[in-house]
Order: sequence, then structure tokens, then C-alpha cells
Amino acid sequence: MEVRVEEIWDETYLINTYNDRIDLTFNQYVINDDWPMLVHAGSAQQFDSVTNGLKRVCLIEDLEYILISHFESDECGALSRFLDRNPDLSPVCSEITARQLCGFDIHQDPVVKEGGDTLDLGSRTLKFLNYPAEMHLWNGILAYDSDDDGLFSSDLFIRRGPVDELVVAEDIALESISPDRIPNQEEYRMMVDRLIELSPRWIAPGHGPVLERRA
Ligand SMILES: [Fe+2]
Ligand SMILES: [Fe+2]
Repeated sequence: MEVRVEEIWDETYLINTYNDRIDLTFNQYVINDDWPMLVHAGSAQQFDSVTNGLKRVCLIEDLEYILISHFESDECGALSRFLDRNPDLSPVCSEITARQLCGFDIHQDPVVKEGGDTLDLGSRTLKFLNYPAEMHLWNGILAYDSDDDGLFSSDLFIRRGPVDELVVAEDIALESISPDRIPNQEEYRMMVDRLIELSPRWIAPGHGPVLERRA
């Protein structure tokens, strides 16, 4: 699988692969700070392509954290393989995702975060948002890089199909997240309100191009 790597903002890199069988791109991100973080593991099948992309930025052994926005195969299917290579790597996730990681015996002590919490990566600080992503609308988390004004939006603002330009500038309405992403009106509205309050310049989704919002 061809892997593309591009710096999308300061020392933050997109790793992008396209799966033509399901007509969908998969994105991981490397925040190459003092304590480097990988945003999403990819699936077990994507491990080789993701690590091929990752090594253009840093070594697996250098990673301090891996963000798991929610418990699904494309977000954490390869987590065990990363932990085989770097047992000191700490998953960062919601309490409910941590319960899954413990229960499936993938990791027994993840770093648990909820909306409003922060994490220092060295030169930047991540802030977290609750994200109703799990089955039964259990909370996952999204991370926001407040120094670079970039939101790692997971399965919000995703686009199908191959990607030509990895980063595109557009007028994106934050109310435009597809209702089927959060099929509960109250949770949907709360998510939109959180996004509007944040109003990030960059949106880095799990699938499709990175979006630079025009002011
Ligand atoms: Fe997902
Ligand atoms: Fe996804």
C-alpha cells in the first residue's frame, strides 16, 4: 500500500494511505514534540504501511504516546503490534476506551483523559474534547493542539475516495458534520457547540484530506 507523508503544520505529520477496495483513505498523524505522539494506530493490516510512513519522522521506539480516539480497528487495531515494538508506549484515551483496552488485555494502564483535560507534549499542549463515537454513543475523545490551532477530528469531517491534495483550504461550516456520525440529536448539538467554541484553523480527520478553514 503506497504511503504518503506530509508535514501539515509545525512538526506535525500526516501519514496517509488509500484503500481502493473500500474507496477510503486512512490517516494517522505524528506530533513530533519532546514526547512524540502518534494519533491512531491504524488497523493490524495497516501496520507495515503506517510504520513505513512513521520512520520518515521518528522511530517507533521514540514514541511516548498513541492517541486512541475510540475503540475501533482503524483507530487501534495495530496497537498490540506497536506495544510489541515499544512496551513503554502509553495509549491515551477515554475511560470507556481504556475499559476496552484492559478488557481485551491490550494494555492495562492507559492514560485516561476526558473533555477539558490537557496533556503536555513539550512545546505544545493538547486539550481534549469528549466525542460520542463509541457503540451506544459512549464517549471517545478528540485532541486539539491549542498551540497550532489544529483539531484531530477522528471520524468527523471524513471524506471518501482517493485524495489528490493532502491539505486543502476550504470554507468549512462546523455545523456540517454529517448527522449519521452522531445519531442522537442532543449529543450531536453538544458536539457542534464544542466545535464552534473551539473554531480550529486546521481539521485533521481520520479519513480524507486535512482541511484548512478559511478565516
Ligand atoms: Fe472509527
Ligand atoms: Fe476511522
